[in-house]
Amino acid sequence: MRKPNLQIALDSQSLEEALETVREVGDVVDILEVGTVLCLQEGMKPVKAIRALYPEKTILADTKCADAGKTVAKNCKDAGADWMTVICCATIPTMKAANEAIDQLQVELYGDWTFDQAKEWKNIGIEQVVYHQSRDALLSGQTWGEKDLNKIKKLIDMGFKVSVTGGLNLATLELFKGIDVYTFIAGRSIAKADKPREAAKEFKEKIDQIF
Ligand code: 5RP
Repeated sequence: MRKPNLQIALDSQSLEEALETVREVGDVVDILEVGTVLCLQEGMKPVKAIRALYPEKTILADTKCADAGKTVAKNCKDAGADWMTVICCATIPTMKAANEAIDQLQVELYGDWTFDQAKEWKNIGIEQVVYHQSRDALLSGQTWGEKDLNKIKKLIDMGFKVSVTGGLNLATLELFKGIDVYTFIAGRSIAKADKPREAAKEFKEKIDQIF
């Protein structure tokens, strides 16, 4: 089993705040995500700024795009992103158009989606999905559990690279032992820690221990 990547989700309210975090953890993590909150606040500016700081790193723009796939993907790529996300309820033409205009596309799994839809994503060449516990679901009391792990395993068996995210911390990582997770995506547990660099290193060490 390969070792999962660690991705920082920069969901900051401003470019300045995001740059402060990324300067601390950028060389510790594997993938840099310009989070949805930050994209909505600042557009593609953070992608450009972070690309300038980290020419070699994989950068993901978490646009959760629902329409105009080609245009949004082109904008992300032109700004310096390698990957972007679409929401799972986007149409196949939107996903196809986005997938053709960016290096890699991830489908963000929220709410209702089916494995039949997942087969269609696979058929148009999408390799990555993000299994998400939404912030709001977590706030309303949902937790990671067996139902999530079973769906994640099924997606992996279908051949997807599956990233996992939503309120992850060192304890929740343990739940995924033995599962071929592609990437763990952590936001607040790293960015809002007293010492983000130390927190990112602890995530990496925990991943090393478990996998
Ligand atoms: C919200 C997101 C977040 O970036 C991702 O879930 C990580 O956030 P956190 O670890 O803070 O829950 O995509 O839609």
